[in-house]
Amino acid sequence: MSDIIAKKLDLARSIAVEAGNLAVKMRNEKDSTFAQRKSHQDFVTAADLAVEQLIRDRITDQFPEDSILGEEQGASEISDSIWVVDPIDGTTNYMHGLTEWAVSIAYCHADKVVCGVIYAPDISSLISASTGGGATLNDKPVHVSNCSTLENALVLLGRSARHGAKDYLQNIQNVLDKGMEYRRNGSAAYSLLSVAAGRAEGYYEAHLNSWDALAGLLIVSEAGGMTNTYCFKDFLSEGGCIIASNSRLHDIIKKISIV
Ligand code: IPD
Ligand code: CA
Ligand code: CA
Repeated sequence: MSDIIAKKLDLARSIAVEAGNLAVKMRNEKDSTFAQRKSHQDFVTAADLAVEQLIRDRITDQFPEDSILGEEQGASEISDSIWVVDPIDGTTNYMHGLTEWAVSIAYCHADKVVCGVIYAPDISSLISASTGGGATLNDKPVHVSNCSTLENALVLLGRSARHGAKDYLQNIQNVLDKGMEYRRNGSAAYSLLSVAAGRAEGYYEAHLNSWDALAGLLIVSEAGGMTNTYCFKDFLSEGGCIIASNSRLHDIIKKISIV
């Protein structure tokens, strides 16, 4: 790993922890104005905004020439070096006091994710990876599960609001028909962390945005898993379908897709 990538990975890791801790603190101190509804079942909290601002400030302080795409503020420019940030992935869980939410930070260069970090404060899990450098969970090397038996396999299914309930029910049916079990946890980053850490064999969601998934996709690959391929530029602007697996069951998990 070059010195500059090591520096960016270190920075992303320390920012993610600081950001996650800020979110925890703000949730502990919340008042009645904390969460606002953006649209049906879609919320933004004061912490989503404050955490994204903190992440932006820390990145800009060290690397002012890099651009930043964040869920809450978007991007003022897209340059060759870009950080893609979801300050809180799983806001609904976070604001209800459920534990499945995470901060997600990816650093990308020349249309590739170079390093990625996910921090899930409520389960004290910091997972990160850099291209070719493997993945670590709380500083220890981490690997996807080696399960290759359908009847032992657990698949995490995200439900995208951009697809109807019928599609989601079809996903569930497809998983059960293959003899696997499923869970929905409400956070893409948390789900990708779970696959990389060997806690689930796969994850599928019909549509995600780049900030939900870019860090996690690299982390799953570096933990020995497989993900779907995508065109970086299109995914950055439009998002897309996500399939991530422990690699042994990839071909089967691919088949549950409805898009
Ligand atoms: C959402 C979560 C959820 C996924 C949605 C995302 P947010 O992110 O990742 O699991 O199903 O598609 O938008 O809004 O909590 O940052
Ligand atoms: Ca998200
Ligand atoms: Ca978010």
